[in-house]
Amino acid sequence: MDCDAILKMKDNDCIYVMQSKHSNSLQEDVQHGLLTVPRSMPPKYFYDEYGSLLFDRICDTKEYYPTRTESKLLEDHALELIELAMPRHILEFGSGCSRKTHFLMQACENLKIDCQYLPFDVCEEVLYQVRDEYIRRYQWSDVTPLIGDYTAGLDDLHRPEGACLYVFLGSSIGNFDRQQAKEFVAEVAACMLPGDSFLLGVDRVKSAQILHQAYNDKDGVTGEFNLNLLNVLNQRLDANFDLNNFKHKAIYNEVLQRIEMYLVAESRQTISFNALDESIQINKDEEILTEVSHKYTYDQVESLLTDAGLHILKHVEPDNAWFSLVMAHKPL
Ligand code: SAH
Ligand code: AVI
Repeated sequence: MDCDAILKMKDNDCIYVMQSKHSNSLQEDVQHGLLTVPRSMPPKYFYDEYGSLLFDRICDTKEYYPTRTESKLLEDHALELIELAMPRHILEFGSGCSRKTHFLMQACENLKIDCQYLPFDVCEEVLYQVRDEYIRRYQWSDVTPLIGDYTAGLDDLHRPEGACLYVFLGSSIGNFDRQQAKEFVAEVAACMLPGDSFLLGVDRVKSAQILHQAYNDKDGVTGEFNLNLLNVLNQRLDANFDLNNFKHKAIYNEVLQRIEMYLVAESRQTISFNALDESIQINKDEEILTEVSHKYTYDQVESLLTDAGLHILKHVEPDNAWFSLVMAHKPL
């Protein structure tokens, strides 16, 4: 890792990635998103330690097919993907619990490729757990967590020495709007040098019923995950949301080909944000947009990558075409 090129503070073997473009603080996001209508919050705030755990539980629900589907693709194709990338470093955006990255690391082990793992996430607690787990499991590897917000610019993510495989799994690209997704892929492409690769996992457009079920699991785990946003706001801004006064709503918007997740007020209520010295009235049935999850056709996935100047080396999908895993590289 090129220490001089990266603005960072080294602490406990982790690297804090400094923001290189403007990104709202939580206070600003609340000011712009919650204190005015229509109300919305960016999805990154779901992921305190408990939110990350809840997301991991979503992955195990019967209805949430993306994780299982992508895992199977990785299990079946990790060796050839790693042979294509031949990485000295794997840098994963929004790595969370890194449950699928094992397939890539195992492939490196099988191919005797010494590779450093750099999981990059906003959730510091989960990064520490992943670091400990991966260091134990892959003793030949160096594991260096990157703590930060990948929407806050990647200029300071200078490439390490040697081929780097950038990884963005789980269709987290879908949580950007379409324009932001293009810009993010362009930012990743700008980090890449010839010989680097980008592995992108994207959820595909499919039947509205399957999609609706995936975000409305019958055990209510997705609902708990959604409501946890209010806990985060209560803790971080000394707010007084009562979780019993809101319910989870997730719909598939067929026109925009995206899931929209909301918290809906069940009664009229006053919410105070003591840390901001602000309060708002929320009416019964008023909605807070908490997440969008765009679904992509294969052609759209292809354009995302090629518009950023990347060349697609490999595309794998399951028989039902529910998910795409695409490996692209930066041409010479
Ligand atoms: N990639 C994993 C986890 C997906 S959950 C998988 O496929 O299963 C989304 C992850 O992205 C969470 O761990 C969350 O903390 C992280 N995340 C969300 N927004 C982020 C942001 N702006 N910057 C960095 N990490 C982010
Ligand atoms: C992390 N992200 C890609 C998930 C998704 O499907 O949009 C988050 C999620 N929200 C509800 N269920 C899962």
